[in-house]
Amino acid sequence: MGEEETGEEYLFKIVVIGDSAVGKSNLLSRFSRDEFDHNSKATIGVEFQTQMVEIDGKEVKAQVWDTAGQERFRAVTSAYYRGAVGALVVYDISRRTTFENVKRWLDELNTHCDTTVARMLVGNKCDLENIREVSVEDGKSLAEEEGLFFIETSALDSTNVYKAFEIVIREIF
Ligand code: GTP
Ligand code: MG
Repeated sequence: MGEEETGEEYLFKIVVIGDSAVGKSNLLSRFSRDEFDHNSKATIGVEFQTQMVEIDGKEVKAQVWDTAGQERFRAVTSAYYRGAVGALVVYDISRRTTFENVKRWLDELNTHCDTTVARMLVGNKCDLENIREVSVEDGKSLAEEEGLFFIETSALDSTNVYKAFEIVIREIF
């Protein structure tokens, strides 16, 4: 690059959505602090973390928003999505219902954001291979149908966590 930085900075808002306990908050804590919590509590309201990511020599500030999967703990939905340029739609590969609910989360996303938002379908907890209920093929074909990127991750053992965010940020960039 070799260019002088003039203080200009890219700020990207990314939202993480999906059913309760699929691992949204742990994906975020793994990404921003390299931490994992075995006993994490359900999120109440909205939280966000900011993380610097370098893309092709440019510093990008990713502001990642995390909210409750449980309806009763959710804050104002429209405010949550406002200004988002990327979205991770997360399910748990060991719980089929969380995968079946992906369509509902996509409906909500489509209601609040336009189609230019970069979307990634994330099958989390891929460390739980022995109790898998959603095959990689099922994940892939849903992603294809809906026009999303697809990746499987594990917030527990760190597999693909950084990569999931990086792919979305690159797409926005
Ligand atoms: P809500 O805030 O209620 O919407 O849930 P959430 O999606 O934020 O889930 P959270 O990150 O709190 O994780 C729920 C549970 O799953 C916790 O017990 C985590 O330790 C566990 N968990 C999260 N990610 C993984 C993973 O990749 N692998 C395994 N084995 N467990 C995980
Ligand atoms: Mg949470």
